[in-house]
Amino acid sequence: MILPLKVVHIAAAAIWLGHKILIPRDVRRSIRDPASVQSFFSRMKRAERLGIGSGVVTLLSGVGLVQLVWGLTKAPWRIYVGLVAVLAMFVVGAVLARPAWNRIEFGAEVRRHPRCRVR
Ligand code: HEM
Repeated sequence: MILPLKVVHIAAAAIWLGHKILIPRDVRRSIRDPASVQSFFSRMKRAERLGIGSGVVTLLSGVGLVQLVWGLTKAPWRIYVGLVAVLAMFVVGAVLARPAWNRIEFGAEVRRHPRCRVR
């Protein structure tokens, strides 16, 4: 049971951390090409879903591994440090990244409005 869960855990963590790597390039390209803005935002929506899903799977499979390997209260302290770091990543995502992204989306929406003169 431990090995399959570890595989799921490592795969989920890799997807969670790795899926953001291509986003800056996509942002740079899409800014230069206003026609692709709509598809850019739907790609970002999919990336967001992937990020949240893989983050939750990383967290849950990690907690499952703790339980299987040591028991929830008997893990080495480094594991609890990792747990706190992962929870902090969720908080940063919800409190900083999400509102910032909402502002970007709102700005793009306003610029697309036919009566907006800023192009
Ligand atoms: C971005 C976050 C994380 C990454 C990149 C990550 C990565 C990894 C990797 C690569 C392993 C395999 C290590 C090995 O077999 O030598 C592992 C194992 C493990 N992870 Fe995570 N992990 C993350 C988050 C978490 C969280 C939040 C928990 C839960 C508190 C957790 C608990 C564990 C446990 C218990 C093991 C098994 C350790 C063992 O068998 O000795 N991980 N993790």
